[in-house]
Amino acid sequence: MQAPSLDWSIGGYETIAALLLPAAETVVAAAGLKRGDRVVDIGCGTGNAALLAARQGAEVIGVDPALRLIEVAAERAAREGVQASFRQGEAASLPIPDASMDVAISVFGIIFAGDAAAAIAEIDRVLTAPARIVLSAWLPRGAVFEMNAAAAAAVRAAVGAPPPPAFNWNDRDELTRLLQPYGFTLSTEEHELAFTATSARDFLEEQSRDHPLAVAGLGLLAKFGRAERVRSDLLDILEKGNEDATAFRATSRYIVAVAHR
Ligand SMILES: C[S@@+](CC[C@H](N)C(=O)[O-])C[C@H]1O[C@@H](n2cnc3c(N)ncnc32)[C@H](O)[C@@H]1O
Repeated sequence: MQAPSLDWSIGGYETIAALLLPAAETVVAAAGLKRGDRVVDIGCGTGNAALLAARQGAEVIGVDPALRLIEVAAERAAREGVQASFRQGEAASLPIPDASMDVAISVFGIIFAGDAAAAIAEIDRVLTAPARIVLSAWLPRGAVFEMNAAAAAAVRAAVGAPPPPAFNWNDRDELTRLLQPYGFTLSTEEHELAFTATSARDFLEEQSRDHPLAVAGLGLLAKFGRAERVRSDLLDILEKGNEDATAFRATSRYIVAVAHR
């Protein structure tokens, strides 16, 4: 099992999950679920997509490495009277028996798997013969993407780490090469999601306080005395990319990939 590099339990991911809810709705709609479909939500976080799928009558298991987040997801399900179960695990090591799921969904979750090939092999193991995979992945453009890329580069520069060997989950050809050997046929669609706040500064404040990647990254940069400089660079990126003259709005684009077999 490849250990996840960051525990997303830190910070206040709930705030970020609320911003991503429209993407969960898009992914679940694209999955075309039927009552009784057995669905695994990989990287389920606080359960946005898992709960939507369960409300459509699917039998859902949400899997995430972050223990606090799956506890939040389970509490949400109980509070909202929705049947879904949540288990700790990660994409390349799913706590699920062989050939027991009809659909795998992932809303910006599997994109954090360290080894894409291992994750897809594992998904293949838990899926039945006719099956579908529906996932979302950010496209590399827009102010929020640029902010995250700059922050990640600053962290790597501080600790002297090389760029990570990334699989491009947003690239149709790369996804096709990954999925074809398992008998999947792929289609992709582009969607957009607007991040809004009262100002670019407020958006940065919210992200710095709540987004687990930002909390971890800025904490590390602070140890190198670089956090304030990087925050100022990030604010500059957000202000330049701001689409709203009186507040803050930045549109991010993402793909939803639907694979059938
Ligand atoms: C951007 S959040 C998305 C969460 C949720 N799907 C949503 O829409 O709110 C990314 C999630 O992926 C999870 N994650 C990170 N590494 C993972 C891995 N190797 N396998 C599965 N999930 C992972 C994180 O713990 C986090 O909950």
